[in-house]
Amino acid sequence: MVCLGNICRSPIAEGLLQQKANENGLDIVADSCGTGGWHAGETPDPRSMSKMVEKGYDISHQRSRKITAADFSEFDRIYCMDESNLEDVKHIAKAHQAEHKVDLILNVHTYGSDFEVPDPYYGAADGFELVFNMLDQATDKIIEELKT
Ligand code: 4NP
Repeated sequence: MVCLGNICRSPIAEGLLQQKANENGLDIVADSCGTGGWHAGETPDPRSMSKMVEKGYDISHQRSRKITAADFSEFDRIYCMDESNLEDVKHIAKAHQAEHKVDLILNVHTYGSDFEVPDPYYGAADGFELVFNMLDQATDKIIEELKT
C-alpha cells in the first residue's frame, strides 16, 4: 500500500487488509510505505489512528517508511492511492521489471477507471471518513480475490 507520506492513507489500507486477512485465515503480509520519506519513523497521523479506532482497527504500531527497491521483489502486489504515487512507483518499478505488480488500489473494483483515493492531509476531518470507506471497499475486494 503506497501513498505520499505513509501517515494518512496507506496506513489505513495496510491496517484494513492485514486485519481482514487475519480474520479470514489468509496468510499474507500487508505493509505500507510512502514515496516520500519526510515522516519516516513516525506513527500514523492521529486522524487516521482515531478513524481506525472508531471502526475497530488499531494501527498505532505502524511506523512510516519510504519505499525501497526490495519492496518490488518482496511483495506480489503494490497498490497506489493516487496517480502521482502511481507515476513515482511505476518509475522505480520499471528498473526492477515489476511494473505488472503496480496499479491504483481503486482499480480492484472499478476496473480501469483510474479513480484516486484523495489526500486528506490538508483537508477537513470528513476526508478521513471518505478515505476509510473507499479503502474498506477496496480491501474487501482484495480479500475476495485472495480467497478464490
Ligand atoms: P498521505 O498524506 O500521503 O496519505 O500519508 C500525506 C501526509 C503528509 C504529507 C502529504 C500527504 N506531507 O506533505 O507531509
